[in-house]
Amino acid sequence: MKPVKLAILGLGTVGGGAVRLLQDNAAEIARRTGHEIQITHVGSRRARPDLSLEGIKLSDDLLDIAKQDDVDIVVEVIGGTTLAHDVVMTAIQHGKHVVTANKALLAEYGNEIFQAAEAAGVYVAFEAAVAGGIPIIKVLREGLSANRIEWLAGIINGTGNFILTEMREKGRAFEDVLAEAQALGYAEADPTFDVEGIDAAHKLTLLASLAFGIPLQFEKVYTEGITKLTAEDVTYAEELGYRIKHLGIAKRTDAGIELRVHPTLIPENRLIANVNGVKNAVLVQSNAVGSTLYYGSGAGAGPTASAIVADVVDLVRNFGNEGTGRVPHLAFQPDALHNTPILNAD
Ligand code: HSE
Repeated sequence: MKPVKLAILGLGTVGGGAVRLLQDNAAEIARRTGHEIQITHVGSRRARPDLSLEGIKLSDDLLDIAKQDDVDIVVEVIGGTTLAHDVVMTAIQHGKHVVTANKALLAEYGNEIFQAAEAAGVYVAFEAAVAGGIPIIKVLREGLSANRIEWLAGIINGTGNFILTEMREKGRAFEDVLAEAQALGYAEADPTFDVEGIDAAHKLTLLASLAFGIPLQFEKVYTEGITKLTAEDVTYAEELGYRIKHLGIAKRTDAGIELRVHPTLIPENRLIANVNGVKNAVLVQSNAVGSTLYYGSGAGAGPTASAIVADVVDLVRNFGNEGTGRVPHLAFQPDALHNTPILNAD
């Protein structure tokens, strides 16, 4: 079988993790897909002497890589919404499939990106964009596709959950734990995205779109972070038998769909109250299966790379299988009109 050619754009924590995972599990992946996955290009401005990149073309011209003939799939792990947007659109226009971990890009520009992908007959996969290693995108799109989803609620920012856990368990200061989350590669390049709830709102936008079949509407999410919480809040909550958790909630109501992220008090005997550290968890209430809970690492090189490589495997398995194996990008047709109102965030 012909090898499948991959470009990895961005060699930070996640890009480096994806290179390593593809190399370490190459034999396993080849067995699962029936193809050898060959990394032909990596795009980065900085060197990574810790990675073995022999035989791989290295360039800092990411837009140029996205156009190359020896690329079937572009893995975008640059982050941000400027260069990443141009790279993804260029890749799509040149007939490449895209795998991205970029929740900000998809929450803000996804309607345009998915429409372009649909028109070009390529696929944009984004399992790594939400809840790190938990396969929640596949759950909503495939596993629960027979259900009407009533609501979902989740801890979907690992950095924030790590901070709240360390404050509660060890009495550590907010800033100190945030610095550690940055050093461990959990936090966003701009960590205000983590602590002000913006990252969770990006992820909730994607989850709600899949759960309810609605277009991406990031601007409609009520967004509140964890920066106003004090050590006293955490201690008092505990004394009263509660844990403070930062949740993303998407819920059908009679008036429309509610989208919100904010700290909540959860009784300490609930499973989700005991999700600690960088772990994420998403609870989904649906009409046939009832409630289901998904748990795992929400950030970091290994878990995020696991989701990226799973998307690559998924794409490769479906090569030559158009129309049978492949599921649509999102649960809605990008050009369809939707009359489900989203409640205003204000
Ligand atoms: N900064 C994000 C988090 C990374 O802490 O959850 C994973 O999306």
